[in-house]
Amino acid sequence: MSERALDCVIVALDTAERNEFDRWCRFFGPRVGYLKVGLEAFIRWGPAAVDTARSQANGIFLDLKLHDIPNTVAGAVGAASDLGVDLLTVHVGGGRRMLEAGVSAARGRLKLLAVTALTHLDQAALRELDDPCDLADRVPAWAVLAASSGCSGAVCSPLEAGSIRRRVEADFLVVTPGVRPAGSPSGDQRRTATPSEARAAGADLLVVGRPLTRAADPELALQRLEEELASSRPVEGIVV
Ligand code: C5P
Repeated sequence: MSERALDCVIVALDTAERNEFDRWCRFFGPRVGYLKVGLEAFIRWGPAAVDTARSQANGIFLDLKLHDIPNTVAGAVGAASDLGVDLLTVHVGGGRRMLEAGVSAARGRLKLLAVTALTHLDQAALRELDDPCDLADRVPAWAVLAASSGCSGAVCSPLEAGSIRRRVEADFLVVTPGVRPAGSPSGDQRRTATPSEARAAGADLLVVGRPLTRAADPELALQRLEEELASSRPVEGIVV
């Protein structure tokens, strides 16, 4: 089957309204690669949110950003595997033993994606946390740690996709939120790029929430995104 331009898109279903969640599942699910069930929906509706999304979606991304001791993360990954999701997130900050425990508990039934640095954080926010790291160094180093721990991919800002892509194997997934089509408000996101810039930098999958779900005309927003992605393809080695 030929790849569709929107296969690389993950739509983030961030809402507290059940009717809205169901409507987004029906509208976006069949049109894009994955639906993302995040903390908000999962805490409100639990596995039922995953069931609803899965009934409409090509793939399910459960974005729970697990970060706990290895034993607890292993138990949570095992439970998520039973839900029939394709992708699940953990924080790299939990360290190698936690990542390896998660990978081992997944037993190949889902892909673990490791979150490097959240895309709302900038250098000033990290300084305030007494963490004087340089994000340009930290994010690729943490992605390499995730890869060597057995994770299937990393979540990073589009601005770091290129530097990760050059350091990991081709089958390691680079997943970027913080994607903003030209003209969309950035909201709380700080390290953003357009969809074609993210793809050009080597991102395999793009997480897009509000620019689609909160668009005045979601049909038109999706059509524009499809056109933009159809004319852009990943080019290794280009750093946005
Ligand atoms: O609405 P917006 O496009 O900003 O949504 C981005 C989505 O990606 C949100 O659901 C957010 O939880 C998620 N995300 C993120 N930054 C990360 C990991 C996930 O923004 N590092």
